[in-house]
Amino acid sequence: MVPKHIAIIMDGNGRWAKAKGLPRTVGHIKGAKNIETIARAAKKLGVKYLTVYAFSTENWSRPEDEVSKLMELLIEYLNKAYKNAEKNQMRVRVIGQRERLEKRIKDRIEEVEEVTAGYDEIFLQVAFNYGSRDEIVRATRKITQDVKEGKLDSADITEETFGSYLDTKDIPDPDLLIRTSGEERISNYLLWQLAYSEFYFTKTPWPDFSPKELEAAIDEFNNRNRRFGNV
Ligand code: FPP
Repeated sequence: MVPKHIAIIMDGNGRWAKAKGLPRTVGHIKGAKNIETIARAAKKLGVKYLTVYAFSTENWSRPEDEVSKLMELLIEYLNKAYKNAEKNQMRVRVIGQRERLEKRIKDRIEEVEEVTAGYDEIFLQVAFNYGSRDEIVRATRKITQDVKEGKLDSADITEETFGSYLDTKDIPDPDLLIRTSGEERISNYLLWQLAYSEFYFTKTPWPDFSPKELEAAIDEFNNRNRRFGNV
């Protein structure tokens, strides 16, 4: 069985670059390229949803040149997604807090979301300026506002209602989380959505994470499901 939704924490770009005596930003460039490779492989394997962690709310504390490189890489990635929208048949959405992003980035995100909105062969979510606690707080604010305006009765707030206020509304919860590069933490990623997901940790740094290893992660996911009798 192929997991319907895979979430990835793409860790280890910096260490990958350092091990090669290269600047950290080269690791990020290689890492951004690998999103394309893995998205293509995931689509071929029949994965419907892929959610990648590209920039966390904590990442602003990184050196300024690294932050601006990550912003440029997002723009480049979105430009390619725009150009290849029809060929890829992939719907692209960006989750996370938009307000703090530069206008040109916000505009580009909106354009790509619009132009890819009708495609459904694979759904890619890029988590950018994303933090799960921040997402939950933003959802709570919207809920309280709706209660205040009489649009929602607090007695009607269920898990489902709450989920529909998150950035991931309309997206099923991940079946499998992959984190590369040896750390075994969740790092404020999709805390609500990962409640029942399987976790796969690998020492491979993200730039080296290959379609073959994606298949290995899926195989392990299947073995676990067989062992624990997912009926
Ligand atoms: C972790 O490596 C990587 C990130 C900061 C997030 C992932 C970013 C990319 C894959 C490139 C950007 C892509 C887009 C679309 C914007 P790290 O720097 O934490 O590595 P380290 O732990 O080895 O230092």
